[in-house]
Amino acid sequence: MENQVSKQIFKTLLSFFLFVLLLSDTVLSVRKSINLQKPCKHFVFHLHNIAYDSDNVANATSATIINPLGLGDFSFGKYVIFDNPVTMDENYLSKPVARAQGFFFYNMKTAYNAWMAFTLVFNSTQHKGTLTIMDANPIMEPTRDLAIVGGTGDFLMTRGIVTFTTDLIQGNKYFRLKLDIKLYECY
Ligand SMILES: *[C@@H]1O[C@H](CO)[C@@H](O)[C@H](O)[C@H]1NC(C)=O
Ligand SMILES: *[C@@H]1O[C@H](CO)[C@@H](O)[C@H](O)[C@H]1NC(C)=O
Repeated sequence: MENQVSKQIFKTLLSFFLFVLLLSDTVLSVRKSINLQKPCKHFVFHLHNIAYDSDNVANATSATIINPLGLGDFSFGKYVIFDNPVTMDENYLSKPVARAQGFFFYNMKTAYNAWMAFTLVFNSTQHKGTLTIMDANPIMEPTRDLAIVGGTGDFLMTRGIVTFTTDLIQGNKYFRLKLDIKLYECY
């Protein structure tokens, strides 16, 4: 008899704990839901890439380190490292708000596709921290969304999307991208 009762109590306790567990999980997933119409932070910046072309060592902000010609019509295999200034306006001589540090390589034989991984490094009075971006960049498309996979400092643990628009291309020497940054998780 006593055994029966304690079994019953045990069962009740167990289902109570399972219920609490379920509830806390539900609460957590509700808190995580994000409103894609309302980023928690929104910035627009301009990134400037000045390619090294044998006579501009002092001025260059990017260099092809492997396979300068690439394979086929779309530079397949060409690999570029960069440390590019990022400014508030379109003038590449403006005071940078961040630097874009990373690399891309062309990885399609049928179209220009620059697969990129880089970090926006902020070290100013307004912002200190990093945003890391990693994604495919099909550069012939008018706009491209790339994933912001994380951050540090002012952007600790963030996630979001950066939309690239090519502002200007000057041959192989210079290009400027508009970066429309929307963060959906801010802490
Ligand atoms: C640096 O590069 C920019 C953009 O291509 C160019 O307009 C400028 O003349 C260059 N400056 C020097 C000192 O080479
Ligand atoms: C950030 O800026 C401060 C102040 O200008 C400077 O002392 C520091 O070295 C900078 N840090 C990096 C990582 O550039």
